[in-house]
Amino acid sequence: MPNAEAHKCKFRVARASLLKFLLRLIDLSFNIMSHSKPFSAIQVEETDDKRYVSSLVQKAMSDLPDNDLLINVHYSSLNYKDALSASGNKRVTRNFPHTPGIDAAGVVVEDKSGTFAAGDEVLVFGYDLGMNTPGGLGQYISIPADWAVKRPEALSLKEAMMYGTGGVTAALCVQKLEKMGATPDDGPVAVTGATGGVGSVSIAILKQLGYSVVAFSGKPEQSENLLALGAEQVLHRDTINEVGDLPMGKEIWAHGIDTLGGEYLSNLLKQIKSGGGVAACGLAASGEFSSTVFPFIIRGVSLLGVDSVYIPLHEKQHIWQRVATDMKLPNLASMCEEITLAHVPEYLKRFMQGKVVGRYLVNLADS
Ligand SMILES: NC(=O)c1ccc[n+]([C@@H]2O[C@H](COP(=O)([O-])OP(=O)(O)OC[C@H]3O[C@@H](n4cnc5c(N)ncnc54)[C@H](OP(=O)(O)O)[C@@H]3O)[C@@H](O)[C@H]2O)c1
Repeated sequence: MPNAEAHKCKFRVARASLLKFLLRLIDLSFNIMSHSKPFSAIQVEETDDKRYVSSLVQKAMSDLPDNDLLINVHYSSLNYKDALSASGNKRVTRNFPHTPGIDAAGVVVEDKSGTFAAGDEVLVFGYDLGMNTPGGLGQYISIPADWAVKRPEALSLKEAMMYGTGGVTAALCVQKLEKMGATPDDGPVAVTGATGGVGSVSIAILKQLGYSVVAFSGKPEQSENLLALGAEQVLHRDTINEVGDLPMGKEIWAHGIDTLGGEYLSNLLKQIKSGGGVAACGLAASGEFSSTVFPFIIRGVSLLGVDSVYIPLHEKQHIWQRVATDMKLPNLASMCEEITLAHVPEYLKRFMQGKVVGRYLVNLADS
């Protein structure tokens, strides 16, 4: 090779290597910048006198656990379990300070497992998120890659968190009744905790699928809203307990979705028609309930447990798909209040006071 040609070739190789080096340097400095960037998050702290105080703080990336998947959270939602965590319930969160938030919708920053690409839009709820792993009430989360799914095309990040854990649990409750064989022709479905996150979305989904719904609520002033959501009738929740100590009551409701537990669940079971079922997912009133075996052995009633937290990832993917299609609610936005992180401490208190109505969407992008 003539000398000039050899020089040109060497120059091209050197230029390519330099370019590669510069790109790596840019990538590295981007990583360093994004990893040292402070971000906003809710932090719950335990005081010396064993109170639990939530506030908006700045956190560093180094405060996050070292997991494969780093997500920039755009939206989260508030759920009863977040309020339990923020009030120091050790069955939910053992160690403080802690960032709650049991769900999140956001954009992948990096994934060391290779499952997702940077820029993918993903959804997370359940597993340990927001319990003992810093949760979605912070602008970044670091989690195992097998806790997340890509968002369905027909559901934006914002819409997904309008459902959030409460809404997806409502969808799972309805699906559980369907799997048992429930159909709209069976008769009215009773929904307890009607104004809550799970209750309100259950009413709307059942209505959308053609069921008639009776809402049980402790907030008579919300009756109009519950009727607008799709309930055909609204009754005070205490009417469930009028059956008293009788082992069985009249057969009134085809099926039920119960978010309360306690005597509400005990007494609802006594009033379910032959062959019906109750999907039980919550304990807003009590974690305990008692029952005779009569509803089960005389009327063949099924008590169907619903867990949204530890179900396999493919089941989460499937329920998101339903929420994006046949369970997609046109009136979803009307059931949600959008807040920022700064509002969260005040709103968490309302959950423990039983003052919540509908769903609370937390916008972290604007926080
Ligand atoms: N199994 C799962 O995977 C799963 C997932 C999500 C939620 N959950 C559970 O489901 C329950 C509901 O969750 P959520 O997010 O819908 O909660 P939420 O938004 O706080 O709603 C609960 C509703 O229950 C009623 N209520 C509250 N305190 C009560 C009390 N002491 N006695 C009787 N009724 C009371 C109120 O409705 P009214 O005033 O209209 O009666 C309230 O709006 C919680 O226990 C939660 O932990 C379970």
